Amino acid sequence: MSWTKVLAVDSLPVGSRQVVKTGNHNLLLLNHHGQLYAVKNSCPHLKISLKKAKINEDGALVCPMHRSAFDLKTGAVTEWTPWPPLVGKAMGMISQEKALSVFDIKAEDGSIWVDLTDN
Ligand code: FES
Repeated sequence: MSWTKVLAVDSLPVGSRQVVKTGNHNLLLLNHHGQLYAVKNSCPHLKISLKKAKINEDGALVCPMHRSAFDLKTGAVTEWTPWPPLVGKAMGMISQEKALSVFDIKAEDGSIWVDLTDN
């Protein structure tokens, strides 16, 4: 475990999100219904920011570019929207399903901590 303090608890109230840069990591922190989540702030194939991604009724983070969705706890793909066939072979190669990187997160001593081990 490599817990790193990333933010004051008060800075992430229920329903909010924050992008935090720590070391080489660009993290998206979310407080969804009082549950904290930390994910890599880039989608697994095009590396776009997920800061504006909505959370669907299943608690999955939905890509702002198309409708692919990722489980907030595990990062697993819950819905995948492949590129249209007309987009071409190159886009097809980068559209394979890949899980989103997620991090363990906790609130302790008034701060939010993220475990950056192996990420
Ligand atoms: S653009 Fe990467 S998941 Fe949608």
